[in-house]
Parts: sequence; structure tokens; C-alpha cells
Amino acid sequence: MRRKVSIIGAGNVGASAAERIALRRLADVVMVDIIEGLPQGKALDLNEAGPVDGYDARFTGSNGYEATKGSDIVVITSGLPRKPGMSRDDLLMKNFEIVKSVTEQVARQSPRAVLIVVSNPLDAMAYTALKVSGFPRERVLGMAGVLDSARMRFFIAEALGVSVENTHAFVLGGHGDTMVPLPRYSTVAGIPITELLTKEAIDAIVQRTRDGGIEVVNLLKSGSAYYAPASSIVQMVQAILLDEHRILPCAVYLQGEYGYRDLFVGVPARLGAGGLEKVVEITLAAEEKAALDRSAAAVRESVSKLAV
Ligand code: NAI
Ligand code: 2OP
Repeated sequence: MRRKVSIIGAGNVGASAAERIALRRLADVVMVDIIEGLPQGKALDLNEAGPVDGYDARFTGSNGYEATKGSDIVVITSGLPRKPGMSRDDLLMKNFEIVKSVTEQVARQSPRAVLIVVSNPLDAMAYTALKVSGFPRERVLGMAGVLDSARMRFFIAEALGVSVENTHAFVLGGHGDTMVPLPRYSTVAGIPITELLTKEAIDAIVQRTRDGGIEVVNLLKSGSAYYAPASSIVQMVQAILLDEHRILPCAVYLQGEYGYRDLFVGVPARLGAGGLEKVVEITLAAEEKAALDRSAAAVRESVSKLAV
């Protein structure tokens, strides 16, 4: 049977993710947006690319939720992106209302779906989707760590002149200025970067990773990154649809792991057919744990402003 992924928000991130899902031949895709004609037009355009790119995935565009019924995965990208000078938290209240109403509707149509939340501020929006849907934590995940780690991997590859394929990186914590890149767990062909780069070079990579989102916003001036975010979403979609048991850094609702409860924080998570299979707990040095504590506190502060 063909699998179905619905993407709410047919903007830059949503439509780019839709295209990548078809290019990887993973599923049919339904795109929903409030702008009349936008999801329909993008769906038609993507269907017409199929004969050239060699995919039979079918795209549907809609301004309602009927077509999303029975989705295996629903990706929530609806909401406002950042503009220069805006933090992710500036989006909090506006995107809260959007994610709340979207989640109510997708949960009604697809009560067994895995939700992947992308809208910012990411950790607070994932919390909103979990509480509003009433889904178990295994089926509500936030996408951020894959993106932040991909940025760090690119910066490592650039600094050492090696293939990105040789790099591995873990960025934990909330998707904000307090995110926690972990150099000790970041490697090139299995060798920790702490053995390959000077402290100054590593500090620069860590800071550029933390600023990865705003660096793109400042260049684009009218919106935020979408190619790398879309690829990151699709890596999670693939891990779930193909039951890969793949460990990826994801925002997960923690229930005691790493010492946090009732909070979404980015941690290594094993993903398979049902969504979250396991939170992977790695040993953190005292300063790494202190940084994760600061990041978790920032997420808690942002969630505390929401009436959910
Ligand atoms: P965009 O503006 O290109 O697309 C957003 C789309 O959502 C628009 O087409 C808009 O019409 C639609 N929308 C707004 N309200 C809606 C509603 N109630 N129902 C359905 N659709 C609705 O923005 P972009 O660049 O695609 O970013 C989307 C969100 O993802 C932003 O909040 C952005 O900050 C976030 N983001 C998060 C990342 C992460 O790592 N978690 C990475 C990149 C973006
Ligand atoms: C990013 O990191 C805007 O959260 C988005 O690019």
C-alpha cells in the first residue's frame, strides 16, 4: 500500500520537503495551506515533474484537511518564519495559535499518524502539538537537531577539507541560541574533532552552528533557511517510513531522561515505524550537562508563556 505524508504549510520548507519525499520515492504527499491556490499549484507543478524525475508519487494540494485523512506522518511547517532582527521566540504567540488549530485538525483526520513539528520556536511548538493532539510522546517529534548537526558537520568538513560523509556531529538541547553542540561526540571518520582541530577552531564552529539559522536569515533578508531544513525533515520521515531504527538528534518529550520531565529537549533518539523507539542517553561531562540545563531552562521559560 502507498504511504501518505501530509505537510501542513506549503511554504518554503513544506514544499521543499514534499519534493524530496517524492525524489526518494517514500510516499504520496498532501500539502495543506491557508492560501488559496498555493498548495494546489505546487502540487500540480510537482506532479508534472514526476515524468522527468521518474517518480510516481502523487501530490495533492488543499485548503482543507479531508485529503490528509489516514496519513502515516503529518509534518507541521505552518507558521511565520523569522525576519532579520527576530528571534525564534518572537514567533511564539503567533505560531502557537496556528500550530494549535492545525494540530486539532490533523489529529482528527489522522489519529494514528506520527507528527513531526517544524514551526518555530520549535520545542514550544512540539509541546503544543503533543498537548493538543493527546498523542503519546512516541508519535510527536520535533525537527531541529538533524538540521543543527548538519550545519555543524558542514563546518567541520569545510575546516578540515574532508567529505561531509566522513563527519558526524551531535547538537543537543533546545533549537535556539542556547543549543548545545558537542565537540567530544563530533567525529571525522570516527576520530573526535577535539584531536583534529585547535580549541579556537572548535569554538568558532560551535558558535557558527549556534548562529546557523540567523546567518541564513541575514543573507536572505525575507525568510529563513529551507533547503537544509527540508532535507532534515525527510531524513526523519524516511527513518520512520522505512523502520530504520536510526539514531538522530530530535526534540523529544522527556519523562525523566537526562534529568528533565514534561519538556521537549533535543536528544539522540532512535526512530522506527512507530516514531520514537528510544531516547539514547549519553554520558555528559559536567560543563556539557550545565549547558544542557541552561538550554532546557530556556525552553521551559518559553513554554511557560503558553496557555496549553
Ligand atoms: P513560509 O512562510 O515559506 O511558509 C509557511 C506557510 O505556512 C505559508 O505558506 C503560510 O501560508 C502557511 N500557513 C500559515 N498559517 C497557516 C495555517 N493556519 N494553516 C496552514 N498553513 C498556514 O515559511 P517557511 O520558511 O516554510 O518556515 C515555516 C516554519 O518553519 C517557520 O515557523 C520557521 O521558523 C520554521 N522553521 C523551523 C526549522 C527548524 O529547524 N525547526 C527550520 C526552518 C524553518
Ligand atoms: C533555522 O534554524 C529558522 O529555525 C530555523 O534555520
